[in-house]
Amino acid sequence: MKFLVLHGPNLNLLGRREPGVYGILTLAEINLSIAQLAAELGCAVEFFQSNAEGDLIDAIQSALDEYDGILINPAAYTHTSIAIRDALASVGIPFVEVHLSNVYKRESFRHVSLTAPLAVGQICGFGCESYLLGLRALFSHLKNR
Ligand code: DQA
Repeated sequence: MKFLVLHGPNLNLLGRREPGVYGILTLAEINLSIAQLAAELGCAVEFFQSNAEGDLIDAIQSALDEYDGILINPAAYTHTSIAIRDALASVGIPFVEVHLSNVYKRESFRHVSLTAPLAVGQICGFGCESYLLGLRALFSHLKNR
């Protein structure tokens, strides 16, 4: 199985960005943990981060026929981007949405996800572990399908 891991805007600053909210790990360190888990599970992962909505949409569209699943942290676009939601709906690739922070404990504008209703599921609040739980969940969902 092959998975695409997508990181949305400002996640390139992890480690320096609001560490009290998002933790001290950098994006490279998070990606390394994901890659290690993927190797344990025997699947392949590729990573992409962008601050631009259109680039994330292009990446989702290019995933068609290339990946079995998508692990995505759309970051702030979670709460605003109909276009990213439409891209995920268009390709129909099963995806799990993850967030480092517990968005439901935060400002009310973070309580709405435009993408989660299309997801296999959503995991939030566990820092880097959200990605690892998400990958495991996506993997077993696809294996048991
Ligand atoms: C986030 C939560 C979003 O509300 C926020 O805009 C982010 C990161 C998270 O991983 O906790 O950029 O997706």
